[in-house]
Amino acid sequence: MSYFEKAKETFANLKNKDDLIILAIESSCDETACAVLKGKEILSNVISSQIEIHKLYGGVVPEIASRNHTLAIDKVVKQALSESGKTLEQIDAIAVTYGAGLLGALIVGVSYAKALAYATEKPLIAVNHIKGHIAVNYVEDLTLTPEYVCLIASGGHTAIVYVKDYDDIEVLGSTTDDAAGEAFDKVARVLGLSYPGGPQIEKLAMQGKDCVEMPTPFKNCTHYNFSYSGLKTAVINYVRKKENKGEEYNKSDVAKSFEERATQMMCDNAIRAARNKGVDKLVVAGGVGANKTLRKKLAQEAEKYNIKLYYPKISLCTDNAVMIAAQAFCLTRMGKGLADINLDANADLKPFE
Ligand code: KG4
Ligand code: ZN
Repeated sequence: MSYFEKAKETFANLKNKDDLIILAIESSCDETACAVLKGKEILSNVISSQIEIHKLYGGVVPEIASRNHTLAIDKVVKQALSESGKTLEQIDAIAVTYGAGLLGALIVGVSYAKALAYATEKPLIAVNHIKGHIAVNYVEDLTLTPEYVCLIASGGHTAIVYVKDYDDIEVLGSTTDDAAGEAFDKVARVLGLSYPGGPQIEKLAMQGKDCVEMPTPFKNCTHYNFSYSGLKTAVINYVRKKENKGEEYNKSDVAKSFEERATQMMCDNAIRAARNKGVDKLVVAGGVGANKTLRKKLAQEAEKYNIKLYYPKISLCTDNAVMIAAQAFCLTRMGKGLADINLDANADLKPFE
């Protein structure tokens, strides 16, 4: 019997297995991560971050990321397995992020997962990174089930989606230019802050006032799209003008004014979408979802309209492997996601396919 024939047979039996144990690997950007979940219970969650290395360059350098994933992955997987208290034999399936992300970085995780699955004759489950960001919410709140509206705001994507079922997602709106996280990172760089910019902007904004004039893209619009490039350019122009004139300016005020506009756009779209769709659940996903101003705005508005708000704890907003195991769990329950040993990394994988 070939590897895939055996994997298909095993996978079919996992559909109804209680306490399904999944080992998941994530390596799409600058975190090498591995987690083991038993059902929706987190047994281990190991993340080896490369942030300190990429900080030196002001952003992620793909080639350096791939190399560091190669160095870290074996250690990270072994640690996650050991901390889970499970043996490799007890693992039911191996899950891996196969897209979207940096190609070289993805290849490291995919190759490792394929080798592990083949050697142990276990099913391999291919997971879409963005769907993982959404699915981590099922682990955080066991009562959450579709249907709901979800705001996804990460370094590469910003969208409002309608989650009809665990793997059936309708895009209601998305960014027409930069992703929200990308804008946070670029504005941070202009203000001389280090990578990743989101948490730095958030910290600086806490001491600032919303007093610097900035555009309000798509105000009072009826669609759910976003635009961040105008906001980003407004910050760049403001800073350059001040610097060229040799004038002082308050960086905290710039950070606060930018953060206010950036988060208001997300909040307006998300709440309007939930209300128009007639759902009483709003889910937040992705790295920018860690932002406290965004969370506060959403909480205030959601309460007004009796919408229940769900978001992961800060450490599960940014990249991790728990989210990949969570989506793999949902897929396995539906009998979907099984991959053969020829699985390829797909840097351009559409976020909701
Ligand atoms: O989801 P994520 O970890 O990776 C991607 O899949 O892209 O998102 C990373 C992005 C970065 O742009 C980072 O600056 C942003 O999330 N981010 C934040 C915060 N924490 C992370 N943005 C705003 N406020 C934060 N607290
Ligand atoms: Zn991510």
